[in-house]
Amino acid sequence: MDELFSLIKNCFLKEFETKSSEYRHELSEHILNYLDKTEDGSFTLNVKGINDTYQRMHTIKGAISESFEKFINPLEFKDNLNVLDICSGLGYNTSALIQEFLNKTEHNFDSSLNTNFKDNESESRLHIDMVEISPYILAVGLFIPSPIDSHSIVQKIIESKLIEDGFLKLNLKKTPIPKNIELNLFCEDVRTTIKRLPSNYYDGIFLDPFSPDLCPELFTVDFFKQLKNVIKDDGILTSYTSSIPVRSGLIEAGFHVGIGPIFGRKRGGTIASLSLSKIEKDLSPDNERLIALSDLGIPFRDANLNLTSDKILDNRKKERLNARSNYKLSSTVKTPVFLGKDIEDEKLKKRVLKNLNQLNISSTSSKEAIFLISPQNKNNEDFTNNSRDRIRKMNSNLQTIVKMKK
Ligand SMILES: C[S@@+](CC[C@H](N)C(=O)[O-])C[C@H]1O[C@@H](n2cnc3c(N)ncnc32)[C@H](O)[C@@H]1O
Repeated sequence: MDELFSLIKNCFLKEFETKSSEYRHELSEHILNYLDKTEDGSFTLNVKGINDTYQRMHTIKGAISESFEKFINPLEFKDNLNVLDICSGLGYNTSALIQEFLNKTEHNFDSSLNTNFKDNESESRLHIDMVEISPYILAVGLFIPSPIDSHSIVQKIIESKLIEDGFLKLNLKKTPIPKNIELNLFCEDVRTTIKRLPSNYYDGIFLDPFSPDLCPELFTVDFFKQLKNVIKDDGILTSYTSSIPVRSGLIEAGFHVGIGPIFGRKRGGTIASLSLSKIEKDLSPDNERLIALSDLGIPFRDANLNLTSDKILDNRKKERLNARSNYKLSSTVKTPVFLGKDIEDEKLKKRVLKNLNQLNISSTSSKEAIFLISPQNKNNEDFTNNSRDRIRKMNSNLQTIVKMKK
């Protein structure tokens, strides 16, 4: 990747100096050497993260398929659709959205001309704000073979942005943008962009950073509060991750959360909305307990939206240590999952009991243990009909027990 980025840098410089298109053509010819082909034929990039470990930008099961399955399918299409594409990368999620929009509004795309999107009489309108921090990743999106026709519209926007920001000189992409599609591309840290975006505006938010251990700054409660400000009350936020601190952070910020589509991973992603009616599939009871009752549910925090990823990870580690056995159950051996259950394995039982006893809970079936999980019990008056509120109520029950202990 470092080599590819230095080739891109060189191409930028040469195009600027010579005003010749040959450097871009040359790079397009060699780019496949630096990419991974995924199972649906679309390409992805392996990017270097912390500790020099690499992370692919998309699942190997199919990069463009993942966009359709995880981000587009859960979205509700309507006549005027506003979408925020966070971490737009190579532009796959936006291309998939445009393709689906064009299909739904019966736009004609003449692929034989490759660049001709004909406008139709449709009144529908699509507005997308894309945010990507790296001009080099944008450049990869410009040079990569397009996985679907509509990607050429995104390439046009990327080229315009790279020219506007002084990286490129030549207008080579000829794809016209259909009249009823409005595309903005911001090349900066989305933590900066988010403060300038309109309130109560987006019907959909795609949240597609690298994994939470690599990019926790885009999974913090504080960033989610900003997303809460810009999303409409009935808007839908989609993300591929099923991470417990991420779901916990969304809930702390005020979102309802549920399980999103499964594609290329063992678990489904996450759907969040301020409106309960948009959540089709609740979290599993075990997942709810781990979020509500264990230190694993401590979310990422970044109060002023300016901490480094290392600092955010470090702060969370400290908060977890303090919470463990103090005001949260230890997440070791998934202690909360055993509340209300018998444990046959003696070794496991001993470990679970040790964790429970630290918060003065005598056994998995004690009065306190049953009280903790009562919001999940349909026969109990404490029962709550959705994951977010069950999680909040279980946590509040835990804090009641903790106070009694003091
Ligand atoms: C998993 S990839 C996204 C793939 C992308 N959605 C696509 O369709 O190709 C994650 C992207 O997040 C970008 N990124 C990381 N931190 C960011 C930040 N603070 N603001 C905006 N983009 C960021 C990375 O440069 C990378 O391109």
